[in-house]
Amino acid sequence: MRPVLAILRAVPLVVALGVGVGTAAGAQGGGEASTEHDPLGYVVDLDELDDPASIDAGEELFRTGCVSCHGLGGVGAPSGPPLYDAGAASAHFYLTTGRMPHTGSPEEQATRKPPVYSPEEIEDLVAYVASLGDGPPIPEVDPASASLQEGGDLYRAICAACHSASGAGGALSYGHNAPSLDEATPVQIYEAMLIGPGQMPKFDAYSEEELDSIVAYVGQLQRLEDPGGLSLGRVGPIPEGFVAIVIGTGGTMLAALLIGRRLHDDADPASPSAQEGER
Ligand code: HEC
Ligand code: HEC
Repeated sequence: MRPVLAILRAVPLVVALGVGVGTAAGAQGGGEASTEHDPLGYVVDLDELDDPASIDAGEELFRTGCVSCHGLGGVGAPSGPPLYDAGAASAHFYLTTGRMPHTGSPEEQATRKPPVYSPEEIEDLVAYVASLGDGPPIPEVDPASASLQEGGDLYRAICAACHSASGAGGALSYGHNAPSLDEATPVQIYEAMLIGPGQMPKFDAYSEEELDSIVAYVGQLQRLEDPGGLSLGRVGPIPEGFVAIVIGTGGTMLAALLIGRRLHDDADPASPSAQEGER
């Protein structure tokens, strides 16, 4: 009985390994967790953020990596704002987009970079920053159920002025810029609207449904970025994972079609394709 159980338990692991290898080509980027199981880009486990052990570990990381600018306990310092109302949403956005730890002077814009911290460390830091006050939690994002039509209308009305109609971004005053929306994950897009990073205003007065619609529309813009091109290197891990699945499924279907056609031709010599072959 025991060995059988052991084998049964190993099955999911083997399947998971197979899937991992199959999409390894598509996975990239430090703190961005595997998109195979995380298409929205959560990176962290939302259920772990209340865990006291995680909060303690986060405090430890905060002491070495963040107090120089944000002060002990996040009270703020000359080179960084207080973090009382930042909340999990802001900490998650700034850490998963690699904006924090900030490099450069406080006036300089924090820009997107590969994350410095691992997904576990990000989880701990988010848990700690969230414990400092009652800022917004990481949102539950559901673009699949949203309206692209409504998202497009809203995007053109309230986002395009800064990020351009195509999402390519644009220049603002004081050498700052509204970045391209190419690389933002669904969770990061939603969070940006909740927290208003840098010079971006907050859009937290909109309904969850409206925010989900905008997230869905930005996702559409990201997919339209390279019409008709095979640019797997640029589009990022999410679409690449999809491509792996589509090619895999498509290939299997093609094989099934070819096999099916041959059987059909053998069985029915009068079929047009069989006659063509005899000519
Ligand atoms: C070199 C200084 C510096 C370091 C180090 C630094 N920060 Fe920051 N941080 C800033 C500045 C400046 C801003 C404001 C910039 C902005 O909003 O674009 C900021 C903004 C933030 C915000 C957004 C605040 C809000 O009101 O929503 C969060 C969250 C944050 N930092 C977390 C961290 C964490 C966590 C660390 C450690 C891993 C860290 N920072 C390290 C300078 C720093
Ligand atoms: C007033 C100009 C302005 C408007 C309007 C605006 N943004 Fe932004 N947005 C910015 C700026 C500036 C940043 C960079 C913030 C920083 O310095 O950290 C930004 C950053 C972002 C990011 C992070 C991108 C990344 O990859 O790191 C997302 C996502 C985003 N905005 C989405 C939106 C959406 C969606 C809307 C409409 C609901 C919107 N923005 C409206 C100026 C704007």
